[in-house]
Amino acid sequence: MQAVEGATDLAALEEARVRFLGRKAHLTVLLRSIPELPAQERPAVGRFGNVVKKELEGAIAARRDVLEREELVHALERDRIDVTLPGRALPLGHLHLITSTQREIEDIFMGMGYEVAEGPEVETDYYNFEALNHPPDHPARSLHDTFFVNDLVLLRTHTSPVQVRTMEKQQPPVYVIVPGKAYRRDNDATHTPMFHQVEGLVVDHGITLADLKGTLETFAKAMFGEERSVRLRPHFFPFTEPSVEVDVSCMICEGAGCRLCKRSGWLEILGAGMVDPNVFDFVDYDPEEYTGFAFGMGIERIAMLKHGVTDLRLFYENDLRFITQF
Ligand code: PHE
Repeated sequence: MQAVEGATDLAALEEARVRFLGRKAHLTVLLRSIPELPAQERPAVGRFGNVVKKELEGAIAARRDVLEREELVHALERDRIDVTLPGRALPLGHLHLITSTQREIEDIFMGMGYEVAEGPEVETDYYNFEALNHPPDHPARSLHDTFFVNDLVLLRTHTSPVQVRTMEKQQPPVYVIVPGKAYRRDNDATHTPMFHQVEGLVVDHGITLADLKGTLETFAKAMFGEERSVRLRPHFFPFTEPSVEVDVSCMICEGAGCRLCKRSGWLEILGAGMVDPNVFDFVDYDPEEYTGFAFGMGIERIAMLKHGVTDLRLFYENDLRFITQF
C-alpha cells in the first residue's frame, strides 16, 4: 500500500503493480500454490489472499485516477497556447506602379467630371482604323505595327477605338477617359508589345483648342506639380484636326535643359487634337452643332517621367527589387 500511495507518476504505479500483483509477485505465487497446501488451510489462505489482492487492486485503480488527472492538468498547462501573442506577419503586396499611375490619372479626370469607359482589346479594323478616319491603304496605318488576328480583326493599337464606341452609344455631352491595354509589334527600351494608354474624349457645344490646352495643363500640374506648364506642337493624326503633340515643362531641370529633356526643357507626354468632323460623320454626330477634343497618353511614359524610370521593360520583369520601390 505504501508503494501504491507513494507512486508519483503512472510509470512508478505500474512498477508497483507488477511488483505486487504481477505474475511473479509473492501474492500471485501464493494464490497459485493454494492447491498444494493442506486441505484445511486452503480456504483461509484463499480468502485472505483475495482480500489483499482486491484491496491492492482498488488502491491502484484509485491512485491511477489521481495520477491520470494530474497528468491531464499538466498536459493542458504545458500545451497552453497564448492567443495574445502577435502572429507572424506575412509580407503585404501593393499596387503595381502601372496600376497606381492609372488610378492617379483616373482620379484627376474624375475630379474634373469625366466618366471612365472601357472597350475590347481584340478589336475590329473598323473601330481601330476606319471609323478613326484611316481609309483602307491610308499610309498612317502602317505606322501602327499592328498585330493582326485576321484581315478584319486585330489587337487594338491604341485606346482611340473606344472614342467611336462611346459616341455610338451616347449623345453629347461626352466627357470620358478610357484606360486600357494596347498592342504594337515593337520591343526595346521604350516600347513593349503590350502597353497601357489613357484616352480622353470630350464632345460638347463650343469646345475649342483652348479647352484642350487648359484641361491638359490642369492634368499636368496635378500629375507633375503646380510649377508645370504645357505647350502644344503641330502634329498629325488622321482622326484629329488640328492635331498636336503636347509637352510638359521638364520636372528635372525646371525647363533649363538637362539630359532627360535632351536640353530642350520640354518632355513629350501625349498626342491630342480636335476631333475630325469625318469621325463625327461615322457616329452621326452633327459637326455643325458639336465640336470636341481627344487625347491619348501612355501610362508607362507618364510613370517613367514621374518616377525617373529609364527602361520600360522593368515594368514587366516582375523583379521585386524594382516593384517594391513604388
Ligand atoms: N491614339 C494616338 C496614339 O496612340 C494618340 C491620340 C489620341 C492622338 C487621341 C490624338 C487624339 O498615338
